Amino acid sequence: MKKERKGIAVVTGASSGLGREFVRQLAKKYPLLREIWVTARRMEELQKLQDELPAVRLRIIPLDLSDPASFCLFSEKLEQEQPCIRILVNAAGVGYGGRTEQQTTEQISQMLDINCRALFCLTRLSLPYMNRGSRIIQVASGSAFAPQPGFAVYAASKACVLSFSRALREELRAREIYITAVCPGPVKTAFFENGGIQISPVKKMFLAEPERVVHKALQDASKGKAVSVYGFSIKVVRLIASVLPQSVMSWLSGKIF
Ligand SMILES: NC(=O)c1ccc[n+]([C@@H]2O[C@H](COP(=O)([O-])OP(=O)(O)OC[C@H]3O[C@@H](n4cnc5c(N)ncnc54)[C@H](OP(=O)(O)O)[C@@H]3O)[C@@H](O)[C@H]2O)c1
Repeated sequence: MKKERKGIAVVTGASSGLGREFVRQLAKKYPLLREIWVTARRMEELQKLQDELPAVRLRIIPLDLSDPASFCLFSEKLEQEQPCIRILVNAAGVGYGGRTEQQTTEQISQMLDINCRALFCLTRLSLPYMNRGSRIIQVASGSAFAPQPGFAVYAASKACVLSFSRALREELRAREIYITAVCPGPVKTAFFENGGIQISPVKKMFLAEPERVVHKALQDASKGKAVSVYGFSIKVVRLIASVLPQSVMSWLSGKIF
């Protein structure tokens, strides 16, 4: 990632958790970025981030990614500014726990709209503004590695992100644009609270610091890795999921989580 001089980075979900940490670390790691475009719904949190990073030019773009009108707004901004996107980080996401029959269709739609549709569309809209060496970082989840009873729709949405990222990586190989799917286990952010999820004692034991997850993700992205997995426990999950039949894995993850 050497040519970032006139380029910009775009980070969704920048108002909290992993997205916010991506902005902090991108600003440090790539000081030649002209601007970092940051999106989320909560303007005041994005403004706080700008106050925290006065030396960095943040372009605050309020977007509700559950609304397809936000794709038009993003597209218009790109057309107006004609930036060179060196790094796109799709970090916005939501997760609601519980058995599927207990979830509302609103919750299910939110997970699919934000985790998948918005991520696909923003990626698509960004592609014409990327060039050789540009990076796309898709925040998926360790939940992408196996079906997860009790978190079924969320895990399916993240499997969707992982599959999309792997396929797009091949489509973009000739353009030398690299995609990394970030698949962390549980991370200490507001994610669980926002989704009304009580963290199981097993998950609590493995909660990772967002700083470490993001540091590893940026390292892996600059090496051009397809998947970034932080932490021993989720590496073990990935390994087990790659050898066990899916039916056994679903049963096991239902028991554990
Ligand atoms: N924390 C974990 O344990 C964990 C583990 C694996 C993967 N992940 C993934 O990591 C990503 C970041 O999550 P996090 O842990 O950082 O959680 P978080 O602190 O709750 O952050 C979620 C971000 O998504 C944004 N967002 C939610 N709904 C939105 C909407 N309708 N339109 C625009 N932005 C929206 C939020 O901004 P506003 O509310 O301001 O709109 C916020 O910035 C998600 O994709 C999540 O699935 C998290």
